[in-house]
Amino acid sequence: MGSRIVSTGRATPRTLLTNHDLEHRMDTSDEWIRTRTGIGQRFVMSTGESLVEIAAQASAIALERAGLKVDQIDAIIVGTVSSDYGFPSFACQLQHRLGIDSIPAFDVAAACSGFIYALTVADSAMRAGDYACVLVVGADALSTMVDWQDRSTAVLFGDGAGAAVLVYEHGQRGLLGSLLRSSGACWDMLSVRNRGVQNTADAEGRRLNEDAIRMKGPELFKVAVKSLEEITRKVAERAGINLNDISLVVPHQANLRIINAVAQRLGLGPDKVFTNVDRYGNTSAASVPIALDEAIEAGRIRSNDLVVLNACGGGLTWGANLLRW
Ligand code: ACO
Repeated sequence: MGSRIVSTGRATPRTLLTNHDLEHRMDTSDEWIRTRTGIGQRFVMSTGESLVEIAAQASAIALERAGLKVDQIDAIIVGTVSSDYGFPSFACQLQHRLGIDSIPAFDVAAACSGFIYALTVADSAMRAGDYACVLVVGADALSTMVDWQDRSTAVLFGDGAGAAVLVYEHGQRGLLGSLLRSSGACWDMLSVRNRGVQNTADAEGRRLNEDAIRMKGPELFKVAVKSLEEITRKVAERAGINLNDISLVVPHQANLRIINAVAQRLGLGPDKVFTNVDRYGNTSAASVPIALDEAIEAGRIRSNDLVVLNACGGGLTWGANLLRW
């Protein structure tokens, strides 16, 4: 018995912001952004758009692909740090939007590692016998939290949501293992003070500097590479899986240089690593499920393949899941 992802879905805001668009807004260039991060464009929230609505779209696609009705879900777990409200949780708002009642719905706040954390929590609860079917969502809108005058952070983030339906069933396929880690000591490498002021990219008002995302980019880069390599090795080792037998790693899409450095350290060629950071930027908790959904669509994952999901983000938090697809 184990939990298995039976379907996925993704959705993004309408507005596409290219590097060339950003060249008109700040002192940056397409060349710098592509070379330093691998990002070419990102989708960002506009005034009046709702991230809950976008998460509902991604969820509806995943549920339809699973052939399930909303009343067959036993719980909703959302990895997010982007709820419009301190409370109710994003998950409760999503539950309402999907028209479901009574089942437990809650958020897991682990920034960019949010989906990995949410998936791990869902899997543990299912193994404990609590739920048979869980909707796991990663949704974030970090573009609304940046200082649009700060070129060192504003170019990095995009918004969106990815969803996965997790079903507990007999068989050898599904989640083989998960590992989560945090380091509160590194909390100030990537932080945002609060969400008291929310600014979409098109808004007149700008988030006050002291409330915007703060990041120690170069330090974070090094910690991300080290921790992602380590957690990927450990999750495979614990499951008794040789790294060479992994078919595909679907990593958090923060920066192509981080992804490539981790892959190189793990001895994994480009055919074994899925990337779409060029088209989405860093969508935080949405990044892994969006990438997973695209990898499936592109035919990069086949039945029985060994797949690793990994992520690292504010907290610091990091983690990995190993799945037999
Ligand atoms: N356009 C043009 N120039 C820029 C920009 C920009 N958007 N941003 C910074 N620069 C300049 C800097 O001012 C600096 O100029 P200087 O040398 O005259 O002082 C120069 O570029 C180099 O700046 P660095 O910060 O040293 O550049 P670096 O190569 O480290 O790249 C980056 C910065 C992309 C942020 C990198 O450190 C990084 O990716 N770190 C990880 C951060 C991250 O991914 N955070 C997301 C969440 S955490 C996670 O998901 C893992």
